[in-house]
Amino acid sequence: MSQFLSNCSVGSLVTAAQALREGSLVAFPTETVYGLGADATNPMAIARIYEVKGRPSDHPLIVHVADLKYLEQWISDIPEYAIALTRNFWPGPMTLILKRSDLANDFITGGQNTVGIRIPDNSLALGLLEAFHHLGGAGIAAPSANRFGQVSPTTAEAVQEELGNYLSDTDLVLDGGPSVVGVESTIIDCTGQLPKILRPGAITIEMIEEVSGLKVSDSTEKNPDDFKQEDIRVSGSLENHYAPQAKVFLDQQPVDGSGFIALESVNTPDGVVRLAAPKSVEEFARILYSALREGDHQGLDTIYIVQPTGKGLAIAIRDRLSRSAKGR
Ligand code: TXA
Ligand code: MG
Repeated sequence: MSQFLSNCSVGSLVTAAQALREGSLVAFPTETVYGLGADATNPMAIARIYEVKGRPSDHPLIVHVADLKYLEQWISDIPEYAIALTRNFWPGPMTLILKRSDLANDFITGGQNTVGIRIPDNSLALGLLEAFHHLGGAGIAAPSANRFGQVSPTTAEAVQEELGNYLSDTDLVLDGGPSVVGVESTIIDCTGQLPKILRPGAITIEMIEEVSGLKVSDSTEKNPDDFKQEDIRVSGSLENHYAPQAKVFLDQQPVDGSGFIALESVNTPDGVVRLAAPKSVEEFARILYSALREGDHQGLDTIYIVQPTGKGLAIAIRDRLSRSAKGR
């Protein structure tokens, strides 16, 4: 069982950074979802991430750093448009895939010649990263702090529920309250002449096109059936991901006794358990994963969801929902 730290002081962030340097795991809040952190240069610690998550070891991890000055050591090349993206959207819910340096070892990149990097926009995460860099750390590798294939946690309690049985007593869980974005970062492949979205998120196509002045391709808009699973290493793009215990149905007439999630403007059908009624697409993203977990806590067998329409963050929500609905 791990230690649970709430009201994190500077002192506790230093303790957590030391634990990371000594090879322990530290789960921490980010603005998107909670991450399960390990020293990105420590192969033993990284091996424990895979073990605790139950994740196949060829799925690469995102390296988190506190500031642009820590980016250079991880990469061997960065195009102009990616520099513009970092200046505009970091710290923030955006991960860039760039050509790796030797520091980005195979155990981080899953043997690929690229590395995923992000500066999160959360004061606790940034405090932890600063303390970690101060102790000589290069970056914190952190996947979402859930068991493989399940719903990402957006609170420290959800991390404890997911991973409590798998963490050891030198590992830590930092409590920073609920994540404000609620869905994982936008992943942008910046190894080609044009940016390509590998996973949609709160940094949208429109935002990327405006800042880069380039046309963005969104590989996630392709029918998932067109992909061969072995061709892609973005685990979040496997079909059956983000799945709660309950079976998820999208845009269908709910049966009695089901959970129900839709924008507030959609009336609650008779006989269902309303799990959430967000007022906006932003709120939909923020509360979606906790609403799915609540359905599981209530022991519901089925959850019916009316998907938000339109562009922007709604694309990320529909991306996750279509995978949740594929089940486990
Ligand atoms: O918002 C987020 O990105 C959260 C927070 C904790 O930062 N992290 C997160 O990590 O969602 P994870 O591991 O659950 O999802 C990251 C995705 C994985 O599907 C992984 O395959 C992909 O990023 N990825 C990482 N490095 C990559 C690379 N070099 N090339 C392609 N995909 C990569
Ligand atoms: Mg994940």
